[in-house]
Amino acid sequence: MVSRVGGSTLVVGRSPAMQALLKRAGRFAPSDAPVTVMGETGTGKEVVARVLHANSPRADKPFVAVNVAALPAELLESELFGHGKGAFTGAANARRGLFEAANGGTLFLDEIGEMPLALQAKLLRVLQDGEVRRVGENATFAVDVRVVCATHRDLAERVREGQFREDLYYRVKVLSLTVPPLRDRGTDVLALALYFLTDEKTEACTFTDAAQQLMLEYAWPGNVRELQNVVKHGAALAQGPAIGTDDLPEELTSGGSFAQPAGDVSAAGAPGLATLAEVERAHILRVLDACGGAQSEAADVLGIARTTLWRKLRQYE
Ligand SMILES: Nc1ncnc2c1ncn2[C@@H]1O[C@H](COP(=O)(O)OP(=O)(O)OP(=O)(O)O)[C@@H](O)[C@H]1O
Ligand SMILES: [Mg+2]
Repeated sequence: MVSRVGGSTLVVGRSPAMQALLKRAGRFAPSDAPVTVMGETGTGKEVVARVLHANSPRADKPFVAVNVAALPAELLESELFGHGKGAFTGAANARRGLFEAANGGTLFLDEIGEMPLALQAKLLRVLQDGEVRRVGENATFAVDVRVVCATHRDLAERVREGQFREDLYYRVKVLSLTVPPLRDRGTDVLALALYFLTDEKTEACTFTDAAQQLMLEYAWPGNVRELQNVVKHGAALAQGPAIGTDDLPEELTSGGSFAQPAGDVSAAGAPGLATLAEVERAHILRVLDACGGAQSEAADVLGIARTTLWRKLRQYE
């Protein structure tokens, strides 16, 4: 297995959970069948997609990534499949799509759970026939592309909600991988923190024992990406060879995981115990922060509707 992907990314993961995942990924890599990578936000789904590519016979061909949630449906269609000359206003020239760009290699469809239904039908056709048709053209042509999808959603739930085609679901879930949340990876947290620290310009090259303890106890709602930001925070504040607890962001030092809510702000009498509303507020703000302020992502992590999150945030203003 190649453990360094996309140039400099080293896949850190000695925990049993990550070893099991990488072993499974290694078995899927040589196949041309679609793979779906699942996992919470920031767990490393794209890293796993790159591992699949790097360990496949397609490794020296392109790896093309596209976030299907980032574009409106019409734009996404021409982005994926290309368009003919004059296919729509502004299409002065024909343009090839990402399926063509990825020919011989791997196309990574990130956030597949958000793909508009009309496009899901077109994707299914490509997966079945191995042919694409540019928008505004009649001719189809063959492409040889391995599709890897990622989602932080429960796709079966999306099918039940009528938001994801059942036939496509069965097609893409045959080979599926679930990236474990960081809180289930034991001391990988420390290995990853040290790995990210080597990227920072700081004289600190380690973490104090107390800081390590906090990192091990924290629940990491934003997973590896959140850890990366915590290391940046620590590196910026550190004044010596080791990052200490004072250098870590507040969410880690104030009790961090949900098991120990901010205790000393109790309004309800019992000293050291927060009210449910206080815990909820602190947790919501922590998750929002871990998601870089993205409300829809935070709502997914929290398992609540976006409108509910919005309403709660209004109350906190
Ligand atoms: N095992 C790992 N070893 C080293 N770096 C990692 C590992 N997992 C994730 N990372 C790094 O953490 C960051 C987040 O990873 P990635 O983008 O793959 O997560 P994701 O699950 O796709 O996130 P999102 O749900 O937000 O799309 C990236 O910078 C990636 O390089
Ligand atoms: Mg991603």
